[in-house]
Parts: sequence; C-alpha cells; structure tokens
Amino acid sequence: MAAILENISATGSLDVVIMAAGKGTRMKSKLPKVLHLLAGRTLLAHVLETAVQLAPLQVVIITGHGAVEVEAAVKGLASASVALNFVRQQPQLGTGHALQQALPLLHQDGIVLVLSGDVPLIRHDTLEQLAAACGGNKLALLTIDFADPTGYGRIVRQGDAVQAIVEHKDASAAQRAITEVYSGIMAVPARRLKAWLARLGNQNVQGEYYLTDIVKFAVADGVPVLAHKITDAFQMAGVNSPVQLAELERACQRRTAVQLMAQGVRLADPARLDVRGVLRCAEDVSIDVNCIFEGMVNLGEGVRIGANCVIANATIAAGAVIHPFTHIEGGQPGSRDAVEVGCGARVGPFARLRPGAKLGADVHIGNFVEVKNSTLAQGAKANHLAYLGDATVGERVNYGAGSITANYDGAFKHRTVIEADVHIGSNCVLIAPLKIGAGGTVGGGSTLTKDTPPGALSLARSRQVSIANWKRPVKPA
Ligand code: UD1
Ligand code: CA
Repeated sequence: MAAILENISATGSLDVVIMAAGKGTRMKSKLPKVLHLLAGRTLLAHVLETAVQLAPLQVVIITGHGAVEVEAAVKGLASASVALNFVRQQPQLGTGHALQQALPLLHQDGIVLVLSGDVPLIRHDTLEQLAAACGGNKLALLTIDFADPTGYGRIVRQGDAVQAIVEHKDASAAQRAITEVYSGIMAVPARRLKAWLARLGNQNVQGEYYLTDIVKFAVADGVPVLAHKITDAFQMAGVNSPVQLAELERACQRRTAVQLMAQGVRLADPARLDVRGVLRCAEDVSIDVNCIFEGMVNLGEGVRIGANCVIANATIAAGAVIHPFTHIEGGQPGSRDAVEVGCGARVGPFARLRPGAKLGADVHIGNFVEVKNSTLAQGAKANHLAYLGDATVGERVNYGAGSITANYDGAFKHRTVIEADVHIGSNCVLIAPLKIGAGGTVGGGSTLTKDTPPGALSLARSRQVSIANWKRPVKPA
C-alpha cells in the first residue's frame, strides 16, 4: 500500500487526518464522543463532510475508543469521491501518538492536514487558507484569541515568531496568561512529519505524546511556523461536555435560521426552529414556532407550516398548509418512502404521514388521520380519525371519519384500491385486498371483504331492528 502511495506524484497533494480515538470522558456517555449528534448528524460526519470538500487524496480517520462503532458509522456515510482509510490507535497515548499510527498510510510529499473529530464546525475555506499558508514547506497552525483560554494549548511567541505550543496543564503562570490558543488543527509539510514524530517524548504532566511538540522541532529545524489566526470562535469550538454540545447546537441552529431568513423564509421565532438535516425553501414560506425538520425537507412556494410540527424527509409542494402538531415521517430521501404533499393540500392539525404517503394536489388530511404507503389522488379527503395503509385512493374520494383499511392479515400486507369519486361512510373497515369501484358509496359502519362494482351502494352490517316498548330490566326495590 505504502509503495503505491509513494508512486503517486504528490506535489501539492493533500492528505487529511481526522483524530477520533479519544474517549470523551466528560461526555459521561457510552456513545463514543464523535458519534454524538449536532444538528442531526454526528460530530464526525460534520468534520468528514468538510474534509471531503477539500478534495484530498485520502481521509485517514484515527479510531480507538469505540472504534468498531465509529468505523461502522463512518462507512455508512462514505463519499465515493474520496478514499477513506482507518487506523486504530490502541492504547491512546496522545495526539502525537495518534498521528504516529497514521504515518504509514500518509504520502511523503505535499501537505498533511490534521483535524479533530470533536471540532465539528470548522469551515472548508478556513482549511483551504491554512493549507495554502503551509504550502508544503511551512508548519501552519490554526489559532484564535480566547478571553478565557483555560484548557487549551497556548501559542508561545518570541517577538512575532511562534516558538512552541504549551499545553495548559504544562504551562507556567506567565504562559497561562497568553490568550492565543491552538485550535487542534494544523497543516504540516508531509516530508518533515516522519522525523518530527520520531522525536516526540512524553515527558509532560499528562505523560502523553503531544502532537503540539512538533512546533519546537520545526523551529529547531529552521522550518517557518505560521499561526493562521481567525476570529470566529464558532468554527473552533470543541465539544467536550453535554453543556458544550448543547451550546453549539443552539449556535448552529441560530446560523441555519439566519440563513433561511436571509432567503426570505418567515420564521415566527428563529430561536424556536430545529433543522436536523437540510431544509430547502422556495419563496414566501412561513414556519411557526417549535418545528423540527429532519433529513431532507423541501418546501414549495408559499407553504405554511403551523406550530409544533415534526417533518422528516418530505417534499411539500407550493401552497400546501401543514396545520399545527402534524408529524410527517418520510423514509429515505429520494426513495419511494419519502413523503410527498401536493400543491394546495391541507394536512392536520394532529395528522400523521408515514413512509410512502403521497398526497396529490388539494388533498385534505384532517385531525388524527394516519396515512402510510398510500397514494391519494387530487382532491381526495380524509378529514377525521382514520387510517389509510397500503391504499390507492382516487380523485375526489371522501373517506369517512373512523374508517380504516385493514391491510395486515398478521403475516402479509394487502392493498386497498378506492377508485375515483367513491364515498366511504364513517366507521368502515375495508379488509384488504379490496377494490371499491368508481363512484361507489359504502354505508357507514360497513365491514367490507369483497370488491364492489362501480356506482353501487354497498352495505355490510346487520339490519337495524327496533323492538317496540322495550322494558329494560330493573333492580328489585
Ligand atoms: C488538543 C491540543 C491543544 C488544543 C486543543 C484544542 C494536543 C496535545 N493538545 O488538546 O493544544 O488547544 O486540542 O481543542 O494536541 N485523540 C486521539 N488519540 C489520543 C488523544 C486524542 O485520537 O491519544 C483525539 C481526540 O479524540 C480528539 C483530538 O484528538 O478528537 C484532541 O484530543 P483531546 O484529548 O480533546 O485534546 P485536548 O486536550 O483538547
Ligand atoms: Ca478537545
């Protein structure tokens, strides 16, 4: 493998290494830290997505704690465009030790960009600038000034020149007063890395091999060290505890809300919106408070979303209105399980659209109506307390309150076909497989097991009997 990599012409080439082996003790969780969710995606997925945008030759992910879980999660999101390689670091003896494990996989020329799996919101343009500053022959460190630098490695300078990074725990009182800190992100000249990593020791307070010690070696070797300082704390924020994760989540959501409003989306309250995935909005969309969007959601022109809706993987066409407390739960985006709501449709309040619900134009789905794997053609209505599962519903069908499709026989699912202009009364049970012919009427309270001809009135219930002067039993006095 190494031989093949050496043969690749690597002038200006880029390898990205993501360090993700640490335990994340302060999260107090069984889940590896980098698999915690931020805006609906794992911390590592954020970093990986940014890394892929740089079009590197490869991304190497260093795993250790929860390696099996972390690797499985990453494979699930693997991008075909970039080679992804894993290295196990066992035990975890520090960030320098982590990079030593990756060394055999790395190209020996070009730039090695080191990222942290727990610094999720770093931007690709910042990383491009850092790589450009490195240029393959300088050591470039991403830094920032923090009013409270506690816990971070400090950038120690002599005059302007960077001399070293000193970890907080190892720093003197004077060094702790330095407010410029290291982000955990650096761009290293690949051809220097091997020698520098070989010189690392662990004579420090934590007994770890610190990657940050290579700064001293660069200075000693006469390799220029550049600090690329940014001011956007958000990009550098690390996640070490549930409090930090929650703070970053809010900041992240705020950023999304501001972007949406800049596009013209009217948010009743930008502080009460959660987008855990991608939300695309056409013109004149308005969204009331406490809505959650997951996966891939597309809202057409003029769509209105009422308060307290949870909407996942759905395409909602122009002019549709989703009333409050509606739950839409589409399957995989782009698959036949994604939910579609047609132009001008009205859904809710308190409606539930499950995977494969496809509503045509002007369909009405009212309160406590559940739709799963069913197609409703233009103008069909199910306004109250009903279930439509595995059904094909024609145009202008009216589906009465309390009616259900009995689509499951305990082993298999069966389809119900309700042709155009059918009127299903209240409280009907349609036992699938079943077809109700076009224009037919089904009397309320019917339990149907057989297909019905077009235009017919179908009834399947006992006849009403009235016994005159009926005497109810009475208790003896
Ligand atoms: C590190 C830097 C510090 C910087 C800070 C910024 C070092 C020695 N210190 O400190 O200068 O200010 O980040 O956030 O690099 N990891 C491994 N294997 C290990 C140890 C860590 O893969 O053996 C990974 C962790 O999973 C994490 C990253 O490296 O993704 C950083 O490790 P962490 O322990 O959080 O370092 P800090 O103490 O924050
Ligand atoms: Ca950290």
